[in-house]
Amino acid sequence: MTDVPRLLAGPETTRPARLGYGADYNPDQWPREVWAEDARLMQAAGVTVVSVAIFSWARIQPAPDRWDFGWLDEVMDLMHAHGISVDLATATASPPPWLTTAHPEILPVTRTGETLWPGGRQQWRPTSPVFREHALALVEKMAERYAAHPALAAWHVSNELGCHNVEDYSDDAARAFRTWLTARYGTLDRLNEAWGTAFWSQRYTDWEQILPPRLAASYPNPTQQLDFKRFSSDALVEHLRAERDVLRRITPDVPVTTNFMVMGETKGMDYAAWAPEIDFVSNDHYLQPGPQGREEMSFSANLTSGVAGGRPWFLMEHSTSAVNWQPVNVPKRPGELARDSLTHVAHGADAVCFFQWRQSAAGAEKYHSAMVPHAGEDSALFRDVVALGRTLADLAPVVGAERAPARAAILFDWDSWWASELDSHPTEALRYRAEALDWYHAFLDAGVRADVVPVAGLDDGRTDLADYDVVVAPVLHVVPAALADRLTRWVEAGGHLVTTYFSGIVDADDHVWLGGYPGALRDLLGLRIEELNPLRDGERVRLDDGSTGTLWTDRIDVLPGTDVLATYLDGQQAGRPAVTRRAVERGSAAYVSTRLGAAGLRPLLERLLDAAGVRSELPEPLRGRVELTVRRTADEEFWFLVNRTDEALGLAGLDGKALVSTTPHDGEVADARPSGEVPADTLAPRGVVVLRRPRA
Ligand code: GLA
Ligand code: GLA
Repeated sequence: MTDVPRLLAGPETTRPARLGYGADYNPDQWPREVWAEDARLMQAAGVTVVSVAIFSWARIQPAPDRWDFGWLDEVMDLMHAHGISVDLATATASPPPWLTTAHPEILPVTRTGETLWPGGRQQWRPTSPVFREHALALVEKMAERYAAHPALAAWHVSNELGCHNVEDYSDDAARAFRTWLTARYGTLDRLNEAWGTAFWSQRYTDWEQILPPRLAASYPNPTQQLDFKRFSSDALVEHLRAERDVLRRITPDVPVTTNFMVMGETKGMDYAAWAPEIDFVSNDHYLQPGPQGREEMSFSANLTSGVAGGRPWFLMEHSTSAVNWQPVNVPKRPGELARDSLTHVAHGADAVCFFQWRQSAAGAEKYHSAMVPHAGEDSALFRDVVALGRTLADLAPVVGAERAPARAAILFDWDSWWASELDSHPTEALRYRAEALDWYHAFLDAGVRADVVPVAGLDDGRTDLADYDVVVAPVLHVVPAALADRLTRWVEAGGHLVTTYFSGIVDADDHVWLGGYPGALRDLLGLRIEELNPLRDGERVRLDDGSTGTLWTDRIDVLPGTDVLATYLDGQQAGRPAVTRRAVERGSAAYVSTRLGAAGLRPLLERLLDAAGVRSELPEPLRGRVELTVRRTADEEFWFLVNRTDEALGLAGLDGKALVSTTPHDGEVADARPSGEVPADTLAPRGVVVLRRPRA
């Protein structure tokens, strides 16, 4: 992986490293007169990097044999003249109308057989050979044209791969799926065994009989569904690799990225598997509406860091204020622009970028906020943008700092996410990511740092269990034998594992581990469950520790040596264990059999952390009110303190010199003052303070 700052400095500049700041820049939506003003305002805002040409295919290649690079040459030159680096898109995200008209066979097909027609964007099948050929021809032209351009700092492959087209059920997809299955299973016998095709007369006798899990008369085969999700994610990786390989051949020294969407319920892309394919990780994040919006943002930024192995990454997009794609799109409150941006920096972002530079006057995103709003530069929003540019400049010492591992972690697993939410299950109300987010929220409420780390990282060293004393694995549904062994060895060596309902249930083929649930973790947890007992919608059960469970319960039999930490007071399982914990050699393994929600989890979590000797690093009054994140270099630490409340908080009891401190000013403008002028003893409402101190 490349260092984000090195690429931001650009191949030819000697500018000292600083955090990147910028946006998607779409000058092709505007007349030329506006471009000069754009460049002037970018300088005023402290912009260092822009992503260009993301949706410019139709402009660059107006016909199969015509190319128009003149305008883009001018934009590249203009950016370079103003000291701004370009993260240049390969421009393949949205194929032009001439291509989809000539080749309608590149259009994606839904599960129910409907074609996704042009008129939006991303109207292409990830597995279409025709699309691939045209896309790679464009990539080659782009790479050759700009290989030596001094503004070129990085390549941006496509855009949000899979956002609208991850699940394509076309005939191209069917063919590619068979190829993928052949590589995975080798023989039809092995596939039949993995898919359990003895069930419902599904046995395949020829590869050609196999289809994507299209709309069927009843539940499609669950392993077929799970494999199709794995395949669909991999098919996009294959496209990513194809574009990347062209770029690497022509411009071997220019790093390649693509913008992930580690955010909310976007679940089709297994980014833990994608990250090793690119030179640095980029993410897009938009605040989710609802009571856990801020926690979800922190969770996503944290997981992005986990996917990047704790190395710095690039926030490619977020919003300055409202978006346009939620049912109701409200603007951010004063202070939130800086708070949200610095939350990402706290979790490892070395660049803060937005969608987009100038708010569109036309098109589907004209009500989406930008760095330059419809109102123009004379606006509170643009002043906030300028202030944020100054704050990021002051944060230059943070550049390149890695994540300082917490003592606790939350394990995140795309396979478990996909498999636990398949149909024909005990309940369709289970939400994998919501349970993980509740645990994370409880950590924030307890004022204890936790890293969100991918299970896939265990295999390549991005995730090291040895870094952690406590690991929470919510709904770790898919547990292959090797993972069970690994967790067991870590617990025996002193690790404290916490897991929940519907964990350890199946292997990688989605076959149930037999002999009583949770088969893969039964011995480690020291319990046995004969029947799963989900709760009906609205049904609640009380526990004797004062908490309330929803969604799920289990009929647990504890084995000798397992302690019961909480018992059900009512419901079907009244009088039986709800939460258990077993001491295992130098560590322990705990099980939570119901959904307690963030508030219900907090006291339990504190109890479990206490038993493991893990405590908050924050002074008592700040616990739960402040989110603490730590980045570090070889000799320094940066403590990011984000105010989770709407009140000013005193920072007494914390060491360090304030590097920046943000304040929502006059109820309108987020003002940031550089070090020296910073009142290091107060954290403004929704404010952020970064403390700099020697490495412990
Ligand atoms: C995504 C896309 C952008 C834009 C934004 C709007 O992140 O990549 O092109 O559509 O959403 O929020
Ligand atoms: C019907 C079918 C069975 C089985 C059950 C499940 O009765 O005939 O094959 O699917 O439903 O409830």
